[in-house]
Amino acid sequence: MENKKQLQPAEGRLAVLTPGLGAVSTTFMAGVELLKKGAGEPIGSVTQMGTVRLGKRTDERTVCIKELVPLADVSNLVFGAWDIRGENAAEVMQRSGVLSEADMGKVRAELSHIKPKAGVHNPDMVRRIEANHIKKTRHHRESIEALRQDMADFKKELKADNAVMVICMSVETYHPPSENLLTLASLEKALDANHEDINPTLLYAYAALQEGIPVANATPNNSVNLESLQELARERGLPIAGRDLKSGQTMMKTVIAPALKARLLGLNGWFSTNILGNRDGEVLDDPAAFKAKEVTKAGVLQSILQPELYPKLYGEVHHKVSIHYYPPRGDAKEGWDNIDIFGWLGYPMQIKVNFLCRDSILAAPLVLDIALLLNLAHRMGWKGIQEWMSFFFKTPMAKKGLPVENDLFIQQTKLKNTLRAIAGELPITHLGLDYYGDDLPIP
Ligand SMILES: NC(=O)c1ccc[n+]([C@@H]2O[C@H](COP(=O)([O-])OP(=O)(O)OC[C@H]3O[C@@H](n4cnc5c(N)ncnc54)[C@H](O)[C@@H]3O)[C@@H](O)[C@H]2O)c1
Repeated sequence: MENKKQLQPAEGRLAVLTPGLGAVSTTFMAGVELLKKGAGEPIGSVTQMGTVRLGKRTDERTVCIKELVPLADVSNLVFGAWDIRGENAAEVMQRSGVLSEADMGKVRAELSHIKPKAGVHNPDMVRRIEANHIKKTRHHRESIEALRQDMADFKKELKADNAVMVICMSVETYHPPSENLLTLASLEKALDANHEDINPTLLYAYAALQEGIPVANATPNNSVNLESLQELARERGLPIAGRDLKSGQTMMKTVIAPALKARLLGLNGWFSTNILGNRDGEVLDDPAAFKAKEVTKAGVLQSILQPELYPKLYGEVHHKVSIHYYPPRGDAKEGWDNIDIFGWLGYPMQIKVNFLCRDSILAAPLVLDIALLLNLAHRMGWKGIQEWMSFFFKTPMAKKGLPVENDLFIQQTKLKNTLRAIAGELPITHLGLDYYGDDLPIP
């Protein structure tokens, strides 16, 4: 394992470019600015607080992830964004009401300099936001050129040596990807024809890949999950990751479902509901936008529970998911889960989860980790789908034909073993028979 030699050091500034300058992106940016000042702790960030054990359990070699692999330092992060509204990041932070006045006061000056470039908008796809800051382009090809110019300008303005894109914009109305978008050749034709199926998220991602910038998608919108863009990413030698952050309710779901499965407890139904009062909630109040979220939220149970292997336990699961826009709650989302399970001889039981969370507080560290790890993958020369980053996503991507892995702890093992491999260390299997010598001889 001599991968270490291939690693390029993380030098210079890294620009994190976010289509969408909303609650998630500004909470991430404000948090990073607070970290730079030593005025906050990076809680929830695997890259900043996580550790990895190396070697045997008795070796006592546990190292911080950021010491194991050369990640960009948070002090070198700079930010650029696009939005269809013209407010700067300080104004959005204030309006979003996520952080305290005291925290906002410490970073207001830095955030007021982050002004979004005009967005590429389709009013049929994001219908609940009154756009006042949009590009006047008339053709997809023109929009792509304008976005590529923005990216080149961002790099100059921010004096950045490298960039990654993390898409953080509103949820678009659900459209199953049409035939036109499936292969790179058909996508190119659809772009030439200015096809109406093409959503803005896809345009940002396409432009970034053409501009040599890796892309992660924190939203449920179609972009790098499409084979056409995966083909482009491989062609351009760029890593991609997505989609939709696994931050709150789904994170809990992918912890509880594997526990039920591990103990072979049956499941009749899982009813998940949320109240949410931020702008994301307002956009999701549009049933066509909620449909996109429902698809990414609803998919996780099947792959974890494997009903095809356990029809008696998971053959008939009623899985319902809903989100209600309820303004008084702002960003403080409340999620309820009612889980109807059954045990020995089929006797029924229930589990109730009531998660009083803060949406953007959960999401911001994920954006930081995704940006740093995607940049690491880029410097490794890795291209295409980064399945080892599935830990961060609701609907992880895997190579065609490979079943996806949704279990949070399998995802974590995959993430840590990949970091070990990058550092030239051996993976850890947790077999552990060797500790017991002749008592438990390895067969
Ligand atoms: N907070 C979480 O825990 C969480 C978890 C998973 C996914 N997400 C996703 O992250 C995204 C951002 O969430 P948020 O809470 O910041 O929402 P938000 O509404 O505060 O911010 C989204 C921003 O995107 C902008 N936007 C809309 N269309 C655009 C376009 N075409 N170009 C550029 N900007 C555009 C909006 O004007 C808005 O400022 C959403 O898609 C959300 O579903 C959030």
